[in-house]
Amino acid sequence: MSKEVILTGIRANNDLTIGNYFGAIMPIIDMAVHRSNDYQVNLFVPDMHSFTTPIDHSKLQSQIMHNLRKFTAAGLPLDITDVHIYRQSHISAHSELTWILDCFTGVGEMNRMTQFKDKASKLSDDRVSVGLFNYPVLMASDILLYGASYVPVGEDQTQHLEFTRDIAERMNIRFGELFTVPKPVKEQHEFFGNDQGLRIKDLMDPNKKMSKSDDSDKGVIFLGDSPDEAAKKVMGATTDSLGSIRYDWNNQPGITNLLQILALLTHRSQAEVNNEWEGKERYGDLKSAVAEATTRFLNDLQAKLAQVDDNAILAKLESSQAAMRDIAGQTLLKVQKAVGLR
Ligand code: TRP
Repeated sequence: MSKEVILTGIRANNDLTIGNYFGAIMPIIDMAVHRSNDYQVNLFVPDMHSFTTPIDHSKLQSQIMHNLRKFTAAGLPLDITDVHIYRQSHISAHSELTWILDCFTGVGEMNRMTQFKDKASKLSDDRVSVGLFNYPVLMASDILLYGASYVPVGEDQTQHLEFTRDIAERMNIRFGELFTVPKPVKEQHEFFGNDQGLRIKDLMDPNKKMSKSDDSDKGVIFLGDSPDEAAKKVMGATTDSLGSIRYDWNNQPGITNLLQILALLTHRSQAEVNNEWEGKERYGDLKSAVAEATTRFLNDLQAKLAQVDDNAILAKLESSQAAMRDIAGQTLLKVQKAVGLR
């Protein structure tokens, strides 16, 4: 019997931050390393998703490689047979299945997607593409082509996973068993244990998530930041005027964010770090400790990055893409037959 499939996307664009490192990169690597005995693990770059909103296309190609290099430096294994690493755009079945599924998807259904509404509201009308509207259908194809059961989804993606289940069930009812229906969101959370509550916040505005933003990068630590630059950002972090260190997201989000970052960077438990710091009064000392840990972390990661062999990444992509073209092609052919194209 073939293994059940776990599948997730490795974002192509956006410079990666330490928030991505601990919130996304490490969990994905952990999953690839520890689950691949029992499951097939598909990690793919959704590169066709990366221009549903406007981007600088001259940078896309190098961004994709940069990000794969960073994953590799962080420990992504390139030598495990049941871990497949591939680019969406290199497997044409993604586009082909998307078209077919488009024709079974209601406009009203897509209109209800909150991420679309959210993203569209931030763009002028003529920049809201049909691709952005359509994005969940491409995502459904990404999942259904490989019969994936488990897809780790953050809150912003749960609606898309629900849609994937809906369209899979709809097609199965109409045409017979075409697709493996992914597990419901609740089972996904049970499987992945998505309750660790990791929330790295912006250093300048600890009420919002740390992520690349249009206004300022001062509160964001990128994996490519020079260690000195990053240390300065930490020293400039927003705190509060209570004058006593406490782990308390409600009343001291800035301080709490620093305590959390310190625990992650030094591989200690939150309790241990809190024990060491709670009750102390000198915020500057805490900032210095976080700055030092940040410097060490970035130095180490960047040294590993310099050692990454691009050819090993390219070879892995080639072999995974060949294998995945086969699997995706079989699913596509079943669907083409069902709808009368073959
Ligand atoms: N939409 C996902 C995101 O924005 C990326 C993605 C595309 C994805 N296709 C997917 C994730 C399929 C999981 C499965 O993060």
